[in-house]
Amino acid sequence: MPSDRPIGDFALTNPLHDLIEGNRRWSAAMHDADPNFFKNLAEQQSPKYLWIGCSDSRVPATQIVDLPPGEIFVQRNVANVVAHTDLNCLSAIQFAVDVLKVEHIIVVGHYGCGGIQAVLDRRRLGLVDNWLRHVGDVAQKHDRLLSSLETMKLRNVRLCELNAIEQAVNVCHTTTVMDAWERGQNLSVHAWCYSLDNGHMNDLDLHVGGRDSVVPKYAHALGRLGLLGE
Ligand code: CO
Repeated sequence: MPSDRPIGDFALTNPLHDLIEGNRRWSAAMHDADPNFFKNLAEQQSPKYLWIGCSDSRVPATQIVDLPPGEIFVQRNVANVVAHTDLNCLSAIQFAVDVLKVEHIIVVGHYGCGGIQAVLDRRRLGLVDNWLRHVGDVAQKHDRLLSSLETMKLRNVRLCELNAIEQAVNVCHTTTVMDAWERGQNLSVHAWCYSLDNGHMNDLDLHVGGRDSVVPKYAHALGRLGLLGE
């Protein structure tokens, strides 16, 4: 068992002291509320959801949907990208679907995303520009719509939504998800976008539960954004 003493003599100089103290307070409060909480969680995890979100510090997974630890399996990266060559994300999806048997995969974008804005501004930030090129591809695909919008704020809103939808479609096209549907596993893929302004989640109305519904559901979600006639 790890010691309850947080950091000993190092406490006075450790810049992370406050975090360790906060951890001990949180642990005690959780234990007070449910003495079996940690014991139950330590034995197994059985989350129903895989969350693929942005790394942004303001969009933590369980907290903003009011769920405790143990309920959501999480993969986060800059601008919630699902790239078909990203072994990290593909492995998280495979583990979640094949081992944990999650029932829902949710791609969660957020309005005001800095990665999205960097793409719109064509800003050079460094190595991350290569990663954000995946978002650049989404912007290019929907260039006509984005350039028809009058303000940069509106373009950010739309590209955040479009990116979440396109990345969710990328999830649908992974071999892991296609194989799961092929064998009849109960699995749905969704796209959401979160507002930093008021903490509300916007359901983008993309709910895909099988191979044959990817194309019509994608068209439906885009139609809802006013991009395509339905
Ligand atoms: Co972001």
